[in-house]
Parts: sequence; structure tokens; C-alpha cells
Amino acid sequence: MSHPILLRGSIQRRLIVQLLSGAALLAGLMFFVVQNYARDLAGQSQDEILAASVTAILDSASVRDGDLTVDIPYFSFSMLGNISEDRVFYAITRNGSFLTGYPDLPKPAAATSTGPRFRTATYDGESIRLVTATRRMSVGNQPDFIEVTVAQTRYGLRRQLAGISRTVAGFGLGFFALAAVFGIFAAQSAIQPLRQLAGSVSRRGLSDLRPVSAPVPAEMESLVGALNGFMSRLKTSLSRSEDLIAEAAHRVRTPLTTVRTQAEITLRRVDKPENRQAVREMIRAIDESSRAAGQLLDHAMVSFRSDHLETEEVELGRLTRDAVARLVPMADLRDIDMDLTIPEEALQVRGDPILMQSALLNLMDNAIKYSPPDSRVHVALRRVGTSAEVSVRDEGAGFPKADMGRLTRRFVRGGNTDTVVGSGLGLTIAHEVARAHGGQLFLTNHSEEGGACASLSFPLS
Ligand SMILES: Nc1ncnc2c1ncn2[C@@H]1O[C@H](COP(=O)(O)OP(=O)(O)OP(=O)(O)O)[C@@H](O)[C@H]1O
Ligand SMILES: [Mg+2]
Repeated sequence: MSHPILLRGSIQRRLIVQLLSGAALLAGLMFFVVQNYARDLAGQSQDEILAASVTAILDSASVRDGDLTVDIPYFSFSMLGNISEDRVFYAITRNGSFLTGYPDLPKPAAATSTGPRFRTATYDGESIRLVTATRRMSVGNQPDFIEVTVAQTRYGLRRQLAGISRTVAGFGLGFFALAAVFGIFAAQSAIQPLRQLAGSVSRRGLSDLRPVSAPVPAEMESLVGALNGFMSRLKTSLSRSEDLIAEAAHRVRTPLTTVRTQAEITLRRVDKPENRQAVREMIRAIDESSRAAGQLLDHAMVSFRSDHLETEEVELGRLTRDAVARLVPMADLRDIDMDLTIPEEALQVRGDPILMQSALLNLMDNAIKYSPPDSRVHVALRRVGTSAEVSVRDEGAGFPKADMGRLTRRFVRGGNTDTVVGSGLGLTIAHEVARAHGGQLFLTNHSEEGGACASLSFPLS
């Protein structure tokens, strides 16, 4: 059972949130900067028109027949009216006393320089902008100060600003949306190498402990280094335990052969039926141990060679024929005929012939062991699409249905093994060999004709 993984946050989500917050901040900043700039610009243009209007009125002041006259020119107000339907007010004073216009207009800004003075005030409940300028004239050698104030409401300005704000807000939103798309894309592509690494490690076979060799970004160097180091340690420890199994199996098998010979000799000497039975059971136990040691040795060899697979071109016809020939003596002991069908064409596959032979021998060994005496075992090689398939079929009772799904697991034996010696590793070996070669092992029962059928398929080269 795999250990549950504790999760805390998500790098991708964190990246997206940070990028989007940055984008929102920038969009907001852009909105305020542009809006302020537009407000300044619009205010400045209103001020300039108001100042021009004030100057035009001041310029129209003249001394006629020793008297001061001010003819307000039409265009001095019309140029203000052109901007919008804003209301315009004015006031003219002479030496501080009101002459004409709106007497209650707010006081102008105090004079600090000679140029026009600007001020924002409230008049008649509305916000207005006032511009005031003064002109010095001489009437009968007396200095005379004419002061003109022109004011205007600010509807047009506000409407103009609202329009600009809407446009800038639209730009800001568009910028944010674009930044969001790029942000999500950037976060995904930043996380992509991690996904690729996880995918390539999880796609590996159980025994594939090669170091990760695909190039990775610099930031992942320590992670991949740690992973490679871990796999190398695991590999060393696995191969050490496999070596130990092989050595132990070898050491057990040799003395067992001696014990078995001695037991056979004893059996011939013993007469009492109960003693004979005891010795027979002893011989069976020795056979079981010896078989288990042999199979363990074979399994360790298969695991090792599968990990360091060295392939060559293998002609499956010849390999199958050799395997059958090796098992004919064992089949003869049970009066079983080995029936071999091999196609005319040579079927070549790339693989390790020692592993393939071991797998075939195990399937044939099973067929002979689990079928009744005086029957036939049919071994057939054929091409199936782009694969070559060797099937081994017998005329026995077939694979026990209840155990069918787990027979390829280590040390698993079916319920039909009463008197049959075995260790439950034969099908495991065949399955591992198939997998190491990119092939498959199929177990089926031929219901009409009876008997088990085990097929090994390998991709053709
Ligand atoms: N041809 C067959 N007919 C019926 N049952 C079979 C056949 N081949 C295998 N089995 C069943 O599958 C089980 C697993 O087979 P496997 O070859 O892995 O182990 P084994 O034959 O019991 O031991 P060994 O490791 O010595 O081969 C057997 O115990 C048996 O129950
Ligand atoms: Mg077997």
C-alpha cells in the first residue's frame, strides 16, 4: 500500500496568485497615473482659455475722453462657451470697487505675481474655476487698476475626465487580462519540467533504477541528484540481496542432492510400510527444497539479467526446438508426447536467449507436471501481427479458475498442486522475462478441448 502524501499548497497556484497580484497592482497604478495626468492636462487647457478670455477683456479697456471704458468683446466669452454648455461668470473692478458683472463672485486669488491668478471655488452651489488679471492704466495722470475675473463651471471638465477614466479603466482591464493569460501560461511552463520528471519516473518498470539522464533545469539539479543517489543506493542493496539469494540457493542445493541420494538408498533398504512412507515424504520434502532453491537461483538470475538486458537477434524457432528437446526426457518419464509446430518463416526477435529459454522451459515444465500421464503437450510458434507467440497447451485440467489472476505472483501456487512438487516461481519468471522484452504472458483455459494454455509473445525485430 502506498503511503499517503501530505500536501501543502501548490507551487503553480502560488505563482499564479503572485503574478496576478503584480499585474493587478500595475494595472491599478497605470489607471491612477494616467487619470491624474489627464486631469492636469484638462485643467490646464481650461485655465489657458480662461486666461485668454481675461486678457481679451483687459485689452479692450481704454481711456476715451479722459474716461475709462471697457468693451467686453464677444469672442472673449464665446471661446469659453465653445468648450461645452458650462456657465460663465465675470466681474470687473476698478481700484477695488465693483464696476460690472456678478458682484457676489468669490474673491480672486491674492496677487503674488504680475501674471493671471487662478483659483477653484464654489459659487451658487457649483464648483467653479476663477482666473483674475489686473491691468494698470493712466487716467488723467492718475494710476488706475482694472481687475478682471472670469469664472467657469467645470461640467465639461468632469465629463471629459469621466470619459478618459472609462477608457483608461478599459485599458487597465485589458492589460490585466493579458497579464493573467501570460501569468497562467508562465506558471504552467515553470512547473512543466517537474511534471515531466514525475511522469518519466512513474512510467518506469518496477526494476528500472537507472539514473535520470534527461536534461533538467538548473533549479532541479539537487532534486534529480538526490533521486539518482537514492536509486543507486536502492539498486546496490537490491543486487546485494539477489546475490545473497543466489549464493544461498546454490549452497543449499548441493548438499540436498547428496541427502536425496542417501534417502533413495535408504528407501530401498527399508521394508516396513510406515517407514517407507516416512522416507518417501522425506524425499518429497527434499525435492521441494531442491526445486525451490533451483527456482530461486533462476529467478535471481532473471532479475539480474532483466535489469542489465543485453539483447541479440534470436531465432525463436530454434530456441523453442531446443527447449522442447531438453524436456523430452522428463516428458517421457510420464509418457507424455511433446508436439511441436514451427512455421516455415524464421521469426526473429531481439532479446536475451538465456532469459527466453528459461521462460519457455518453465511453461513446458508446468504443462508436463500438471497434465495426466499418456497425454500430449502442444507447443506452437506463430506470428501474430507484429509479434511472435509461443503457446504451450496441455490436456490437463487447466489453470485453477479461482487463482487465475494471481498465478504470476511470487510463490503463489494454485489449488491443483496436491502431489506436484513446485515453488510457485515458474510463471513469475516467465512473466518477468516477457515484461523485460516488451512482450506479454497470457494464461487461458481451452474449455472445449480442455487443458491449460500459456502463451508468451515477443515483439518481432
Ligand atoms: N499447465 C498448467 N496446468 C494447470 N495448472 C497450472 C499449469 N501451470 C501452472 N499452473 C498453476 O499455476 C501455479 C503457478 O505455477 P508456477 O509455475 O509459477 O509454480 P509451480 O509450478 O507451482 O512451481 P515452480 O516454481 O516449481 O514452477 C501452479 O502452482 C499451478 O497451480
Ligand atoms: Mg512451474
